[in-house]
Amino acid sequence: MTITFHLNGEEVSLPEPQPTTTLLDWLREDRGLTGTKEGCNEGDCGACTVMVTDQSGARALNACILFLPQLHGKSIRTVEGVAHPDGTLHPVQQAMVDLHGSQCGFCTPGFIMSMVTAHTNGATDHDDQLAGNLCRCTGYAPIIRAAEAAQNSPVPEHIRQDSSFIFSEISRGEVADRGAEPPSDIPVAAPPSTLRPRSSDELAATYAARPDATLIAGATDVGLWVTKQLRDLNNVIFLDGCTDLKDITITETEVRIGAMADMNRVRAALEPLHASYAEMIRRYASQQVRAAATIGGNIANGSPIGDNPPALIALRATLHLRHADTRRAIPLLDFFIDYGKQDRAPGEFVEAVSFARQPDSLRVYKLSKRFDQDISAVLGAFNVTVVNGSVTAAAIAFGGMAGIPKRATHVEAALIGQPWTDTTIEAAKAAFDQDFTPMSDMRASAAYRLDCARNMLRRYFTDLNGASEHVLEVDL
Ligand SMILES: Cc1cc2nc3c(=O)[nH]c(=O)nc-3n(C[C@H](O)[C@H](O)[C@H](O)COP(=O)(O)OP(=O)(O)OC[C@H]3O[C@@H](n4cnc5c(N)ncnc54)[C@H](O)[C@@H]3O)c2cc1C
Ligand code: FES
Ligand code: FES
Repeated sequence: MTITFHLNGEEVSLPEPQPTTTLLDWLREDRGLTGTKEGCNEGDCGACTVMVTDQSGARALNACILFLPQLHGKSIRTVEGVAHPDGTLHPVQQAMVDLHGSQCGFCTPGFIMSMVTAHTNGATDHDDQLAGNLCRCTGYAPIIRAAEAAQNSPVPEHIRQDSSFIFSEISRGEVADRGAEPPSDIPVAAPPSTLRPRSSDELAATYAARPDATLIAGATDVGLWVTKQLRDLNNVIFLDGCTDLKDITITETEVRIGAMADMNRVRAALEPLHASYAEMIRRYASQQVRAAATIGGNIANGSPIGDNPPALIALRATLHLRHADTRRAIPLLDFFIDYGKQDRAPGEFVEAVSFARQPDSLRVYKLSKRFDQDISAVLGAFNVTVVNGSVTAAAIAFGGMAGIPKRATHVEAALIGQPWTDTTIEAAKAAFDQDFTPMSDMRASAAYRLDCARNMLRRYFTDLNGASEHVLEVDL
């Protein structure tokens, strides 16, 4: 498969690249573009941030966990391509100089690329935009000041161009894509190769024919298998060409989120419906990771500490799976069988997750050691219905409390049919011991996890009753 993209305004074609070569390695080792830095090589520090533009706009992404085939048909800008070709600095670069936003400078290219992307998109929530960029020596105040100083400057013309030329070429069919070939052309025993289907139908046929292949969605998990576990993944299928899997559909009765919807888009879609869920997603990793990570990947990986599953389970979500032309829908809860074991057959993939439109009594509480960019120690999702002062229904689910995302069925039973009072909450707290036997690990001890889960129920009670439960500020 030939990978074609634009790099700092110039077309690049790579015939048959090693599919799991990261953009970071390629930039630094093959192109000599060493402005993009390697810090952690696992998506945590932002030193490798680049701007990637496609039909959905400009995104800041971590080049260290981005594989070359994921860039097909897109436009990439690195720190070397940010200044105008005549040498005039980009407004955010000039502001960083003027306001002393850099000391040792190692983090600076990554910050510049996050800031350029935010500037291009007109985003001014600078704390969130820069939460995925670590700086050890300058301190964040001058950097935020620089972002603010540049925010009203016009986007330079050479940056604007990223969103125009590449897409017209794709629509003219000039970007070759092996994924467009009929799946029947692909021999089952094909040599290791990269496949990039362009629709869920193509994916279904391709994956059914090669069920041993590794699916790669946003690569925020799979990227680390390569960069940290040094695994060889030859037999891979990239999902990012399946544009129909990116759809998010909201009707009067249902919300349906395609497996390839990234976390930033999910956050935006859920904000008007379930604000607490959307606010939790603000704390899911960082801007760069959210722009890559998909809801399908977050479910399919079966992690007991993935942030979406408990929230979706509390919404009583349905998971839509597909194998070839056969589709099935199961309660999302049932997908998680045991630690490392999910209800997914070889060759079957996650197509979407859906849930009914419902009044918003969902609250999602994420407990982690840092506010931003941290995996949950415990995540509690509460969805309780109170009618005339009594609990008529309850769906409560947790991550980080068991080997799988799990419902607190005993706690739910202790609430249902009871008056929504302090006494009921205190009684229900005792039921957590029946639902969970959490483990102790580096994130939290078992006892602490249980305590936190109980306290989250109380927080939910005060929250639903209208009292302030803002954990970052003390309201007097
Ligand atoms: C720095 C960093 C911070 C993170 N912080 C968080 C966090 O705060 N909260 C959190 O929950 N997670 C976090 N993660 C984990 C990661 O972002 C998520 O698990 C992510 O949602 C995975 O999605 P992806 O699209 O990147 O999946 P990938 O890495 O592409 O794939 C993950 C797994 O799912 C499979 N898969 C992907 N799509 C499908 C599909 N449609 N059907 C079947 N199988 C599929 C893949 O084969 C693979 O096994 C973090 C990761 C990093 C690197
Ligand atoms: S090198 Fe740290 S996020 Fe890529
Ligand atoms: S300027 Fe040194 S790490 Fe940020």
